[in-house]
Amino acid sequence: MSVERRGPLSEGKAKILYSTDRNDFIVQHFKDDATGFNGLKKGQILGKGPINNSISAWVFQYLEKHGIPTHFVEKTAEREMLIKRVKIIPVEVVVRNLAAGSICKRLGIEKKHRFEPPFVEFFLKSDELGDPLISERHIFYFKWATPEQLKEMESKALRVNKLLTQVFDQVGLTLVDFKLEFGTDNDGNILLADEFTGDGCRLWDKETGEPLDKDRFRHDLGRVEESYQEVYQRLKRHFEGN
Ligand code: TMP
Repeated sequence: MSVERRGPLSEGKAKILYSTDRNDFIVQHFKDDATGFNGLKKGQILGKGPINNSISAWVFQYLEKHGIPTHFVEKTAEREMLIKRVKIIPVEVVVRNLAAGSICKRLGIEKKHRFEPPFVEFFLKSDELGDPLISERHIFYFKWATPEQLKEMESKALRVNKLLTQVFDQVGLTLVDFKLEFGTDNDGNILLADEFTGDGCRLWDKETGEPLDKDRFRHDLGRVEESYQEVYQRLKRHFEGN
């Protein structure tokens, strides 16, 4: 599709959104910048931008093929993809298969506790507030999403979990947890938006149990770039066969 990139619309912690000559499409640009603990820790992961762009593109295409509509249109450059313009619903959906991260701290749950069935939590998308945990009551009272929208987001997130757990398992990785964002198009359809990358999920090597995601950066575990590369190479082999 020939769409021309125009000026920046907004810049986030890891991505920049650009307008285009078509009102219904925007360009999503992936930076190497990395943050942890809601922006308290800042740095760069060299090569992350192109890796996250590729991984998101593979994952979105795979999910589309399996019945999950997304905002993805096509990869247009090493760090850029064309996406449909959506109105982001300010509720982040987190799905957990194993306990890690904030749920362990918040509730004293033992790390690696297996959630059967997978556990869903909602967070408010707000950098200023540090993405606080919210309940359905908050969501409906403040009209961040309707009950129908939330139900659809939750069921889509659980379907994404089923599909991607399998994919990651096939490349020797455990999908521990992940965060999704959704948006609505002009017709009110709910599309999976934002990204799916090692920045927004936990991936542990199936054999060693080692984290290969942004936790390496958050907790100064070393071999950060190498771990992003490792996940990229495994998924490249899986999706492109080389
Ligand atoms: P948490 O353990 O910090 O709540 O995060 C759960 C998963 O969701 C983890 O893979 C990181 C991801 N996540 C984000 O990427 N951004 C967010 O704002 C939140 C709340 C979670």
